[in-house]
Amino acid sequence: MKEELTQALSRMLGKPITFVNQPDGAGLIIRTTSANASLGSEGFQLQSNATNTAITLSAQTDIGLLYGGFHLLRLMQTRQPLIQLNIHSTPKLALRLLNHWDNLNRYVERGYAGISIFNWHTLPGYIDQRYIDYARANASIGINGTVLTNVNANAWILTGDYLQKVKALADVFRPYGIKVYLTARFSAPIEMGGLSTADPLQPQVQQWWQQKVKEIYTLIPDFGGFLVKANSEGQPGPQDYKRTHADGANMLADAVAPYNGIIMWRAFVYSHETPEDRFKQAYNEFKPLDGQFRKNVMVQVKNGPIDFQPREPFSPLFGAMPQTPLMMEFQLTQEYLGQGTHLVYEAPMFKETLDADTHINGKGSTVTKSVSGIAGVANIGNDINWCSHPFAQANWYALGKLAWNPAQSSETIAEEWIRQTWSNKTTVVNTCKQIMLQSREAMVNYMTPLGLHHIMGNGHHYGPLPWGNTLPRADWNPVYYHRADSAGIGFNRTATGSNALAQYHPAAAAAWADSNTCSSEYLLWFHHVSWQHRMPTGRSLWQELCFRYNQGVAQVRTMQQQWQQLQPYIDKERYTQVQLMLGIQQREAVWWRDACLLYFQQFSQQPIPAQYEKPA
Ligand code: GCU
Repeated sequence: MKEELTQALSRMLGKPITFVNQPDGAGLIIRTTSANASLGSEGFQLQSNATNTAITLSAQTDIGLLYGGFHLLRLMQTRQPLIQLNIHSTPKLALRLLNHWDNLNRYVERGYAGISIFNWHTLPGYIDQRYIDYARANASIGINGTVLTNVNANAWILTGDYLQKVKALADVFRPYGIKVYLTARFSAPIEMGGLSTADPLQPQVQQWWQQKVKEIYTLIPDFGGFLVKANSEGQPGPQDYKRTHADGANMLADAVAPYNGIIMWRAFVYSHETPEDRFKQAYNEFKPLDGQFRKNVMVQVKNGPIDFQPREPFSPLFGAMPQTPLMMEFQLTQEYLGQGTHLVYEAPMFKETLDADTHINGKGSTVTKSVSGIAGVANIGNDINWCSHPFAQANWYALGKLAWNPAQSSETIAEEWIRQTWSNKTTVVNTCKQIMLQSREAMVNYMTPLGLHHIMGNGHHYGPLPWGNTLPRADWNPVYYHRADSAGIGFNRTATGSNALAQYHPAAAAAWADSNTCSSEYLLWFHHVSWQHRMPTGRSLWQELCFRYNQGVAQVRTMQQQWQQLQPYIDKERYTQVQLMLGIQQREAVWWRDACLLYFQQFSQQPIPAQYEKPA
């Protein structure tokens, strides 16, 4: 922590900083104290008097001091007053993780910022400065764990040679309070252990994992544990042996339990072999297992029931498994959100889920209250600026800040990030904030307004393909989701349809149950409504669809104009980068709008109102 303060303060204040050993007095006083138990193992306190002669940073642990040190630097860098500080800060969630979908060959699944920063070839011998900077950046926003490998796991990460490489990274990250985790391929005992089965109830399989885990902890005593994707999208899992997810998770949980390790078992499961609405499948499979998991198992649930769409209702699993700790999985990498090209600030989307009311224990039972940790699928690669789009780092930043304190507003987080990344000038702060805060809604409007979902191109998940109907699995095809026909559009998930609504607490479901009162944002998630359906704005559904798609394009154009106003204040390189990217985003917003409206028009059989641009 001293190193961080010396580096930063010397630069900020323009003079060398010295540390002295004296109990009190003037300056910055840093101390570990056991007196304040409420700080826990990660919290910190920052206090100063009215004259600002002394600032005291205290914590119970070195990591607490590190977090407090970064907080102080942030206050300074964002030009906050340092007098009369009385800050007592502890993380609201114990687990604050990044999930890398990085493969051992450095290809990053759904990664848009270059290849993986983890160079497995030169590890463990070569420690890239980037590993250290990565740890510093994460620690500065409170992230305390990282899963290094893709959920579509490669068993070879568990071989002795690779574990040496993992150990090297763990050694770099440890001083920054960051634990390493790995993904475990369920069939590893067969693929690398030479066994004929990976059946979790077979003693030789259990022993294989116990041995492997022992080997890992010998090298990395604070290893965090495993993240597992099993029986999902072709990955191996316990169901291959007619065992349940709980059987599989518990077998691994028993192996790591003696070392205080945890298992994060993903609930991202769906199958085309069942005729059941994909929306309902994770809940159907996991809810009955509540109470059957070991104490050190967490079930990791994506924010919504389908897959990281621009807007999803919260997954009905939140609040539905009271006996099982849940991990929230958000996606920082913008797989369905314009990838590395579109400017989309995701904090409002994260907040929308976290603040949603499950009603499970009465009004005010927010999703936040049902989770014990948050994981963000990382958007980091080896690009020179780490995340490719200059605004994409804001999403990494927001994840850390929200995991520390989910009550923080998207606006506060945006402002902090802008001040640290671009400038403290009021015009820059205000204009960037406007751009960021409208960006997610703009994207929803030009991609999937009114509750449309999963209408993007197959495989790459980038542009529009609402007509997509050729994949072998129905549940991969866009037409499965929008169900447009001459009568109307949308997926009926009420009691007369798939009845996915019944998976929510009745009070939560009530908000969406009636197409006349369901908020426009979620309408087509839950209802198949006629093209003439009257919207709260007075427009028909078709007119509203035309309005929203055009509004999305208009919003991007506004973002372009706002950015232009900042030219005098931003360095040429980054200014141009964002300007060019916004140009692409504008063209692609038009592409989405025209493709979707022209396609849906075949069913609505109605004209696009004359006030809008004619699709090309
Ligand atoms: C999406 C994504 C895959 C990923 C999967 C997962 O389907 O397209 O690349 O593996 O989610 O979260 O497991």
